[in-house]
Amino acid sequence: MSKKETALQLSANAITVLERRYLKRNEEGKVLETPAEMFARVARTIASAETKLNTGVDAKQLEKEFYRMMTSLEFMPNSPTLMNAGRELGQLSACFVLPVGDSMEEIFEAIKNTALIHKSGGGTGFSFSRIRPANDVVSSTRGISSGPISFMKVFDAATETIKQGGTRRGANMGILRVDHPDIMDFIMAKRDQTVLTNFNISVGLTEAFMEAVEKDGEYDIVNPRTGKPVGKLPARKIFDHIVDMAWHNGEPGIIFLDRLNRDNPTPHVGEIEATNPCGEQPLLPYESCNLGSINLARFAHEDDVDWPRLRETVRLATRFLDNVIEVNNYPIPEIDQMTRANRKIGLGIMGWADMLIRLGIPYNSQEAIELGEKLMKFINDEAHQMSVELAEERGPFPNFKGSIYDVKGGRPIRNATCTTIAPTGTISIISSTSSGVEPLFAVSFVRQVLDDDKLVEVHPLFEQIARERGFYSKELMEKIAEHGTVQDIPEIPEDVRRVFVTAHDITPEDHIRMQAAFQKYTDNAVSKTVNFRNEASREDVATVYRLAYQLGCKGVTIYRDGSRDLQVLSVKKAD
Ligand code: CDP
Repeated sequence: MSKKETALQLSANAITVLERRYLKRNEEGKVLETPAEMFARVARTIASAETKLNTGVDAKQLEKEFYRMMTSLEFMPNSPTLMNAGRELGQLSACFVLPVGDSMEEIFEAIKNTALIHKSGGGTGFSFSRIRPANDVVSSTRGISSGPISFMKVFDAATETIKQGGTRRGANMGILRVDHPDIMDFIMAKRDQTVLTNFNISVGLTEAFMEAVEKDGEYDIVNPRTGKPVGKLPARKIFDHIVDMAWHNGEPGIIFLDRLNRDNPTPHVGEIEATNPCGEQPLLPYESCNLGSINLARFAHEDDVDWPRLRETVRLATRFLDNVIEVNNYPIPEIDQMTRANRKIGLGIMGWADMLIRLGIPYNSQEAIELGEKLMKFINDEAHQMSVELAEERGPFPNFKGSIYDVKGGRPIRNATCTTIAPTGTISIISSTSSGVEPLFAVSFVRQVLDDDKLVEVHPLFEQIARERGFYSKELMEKIAEHGTVQDIPEIPEDVRRVFVTAHDITPEDHIRMQAAFQKYTDNAVSKTVNFRNEASREDVATVYRLAYQLGCKGVTIYRDGSRDLQVLSVKKAD
């Protein structure tokens, strides 16, 4: 074993995941690199941007720092960066949004571009709102139009077909504005769980709609072909339908479109219509974004957060992500141009639940909410400060003029956005930490990874505490896996139970409050699934939607336990 190898401590699960899809292979499928060599490949490639940009920073030294930051599991870039940096594809972003126009040419152009992106491990988001409704006129053929939902099925079929050849299966987000004439069909589109399986869908809600819900009034429906109102719908009825379907099987989700645009850093360049597949990254058409996440569990130091070390890591990670934009190989010229012009990056976190456990703070407590806000404010401020320094070194993002930062007294900044909280579905497994800002899924559970592999896991901190305090036994771990919670197991001391709360032990309101706490200081959005118990009512779901709106969230994804037999994308599963 090389020296590098001994320094790197990966769990068995992490190694399984890496070997399956991340490590370089030859044509016969033989693995050609070790995990340490993978991190070295990534560090070298990303550090090489310094030479390319002629920044005067020592690329060799930086490469070492990047390597250390990843192998210590303190920071991980999104999966495509790990998979593709320094390799033939060289496509490093996880998130893309493509425009879908109302003509055949534009629709099929988008499908072609989707295929190119999926091949490289990226996910795509689309707004289908510009497509004329079903049964509208088609002047060239004198026929009638098929409508957005039919075309979504073509995108879905294309995704399904190319899934085998790519690095991981493609994921899509489909968005339709709530004022599109086909909105009812869209809301119902995934009632049958065998259709649109490669899509997450979300309804794009407007302020006008939310106000109408509040007042129990009507709102205008607009035909995108003409831009003219074609009728009115009762807002509450539509809202209740969305709630009903989400209660049924978790879809559609909702996003607050006007809110995404209120925070659009470059309104002079375009309007935000869509997000990436998991909803955390609003983007303009043809924009891509690369994400990276700091593993907070590594920054819990005795009773406090190790703030100085966290600051250093945020700064280094921000430089890393800006470098990714520079060495990235974009699938099409439009994306290359748009991404380089706005230079959006999405630095976020994972291991939040694990950090809280280490600090002895229950996830569902006011203390946790306050620490979450404080932490994210710190990360956001430091990332912005670093981006300003990078602008001094390498210039601001080219669309800076006219952006929200271009105000009197405003400082040039390198990146139009700096922070995003991703689901970290796979990179949290690689880093052996809890995912994103989510609470623990379970204390001991069977985790499904990749295609059909199953792995049994006991939370390492729980195991450690159980051993130290003398209540560990194999039988107890099995009992916990069966129960899915430690709350009703009297053998476990009360103070331990308080901290080891899981997604189902806490209330949906606790979930949303945590999402809102992190959203407050995040440029982009926060990936979060609000978990409900199977017995939850439709009214419970509606309450959480309203609360999310009141608390300033940018969207909501809910899941009621046992309501779906298969899931395309979930934070508990790596694809
Ligand atoms: O952990 P990892 O970097 O693999 O990804 P994630 O944080 O779970 O997901 C981040 C983003 O990657 C998602 O919002 C999607 O845009 C994209 N993604 C995808 O395209 N396909 C997947 N199977 C998983 C994620």
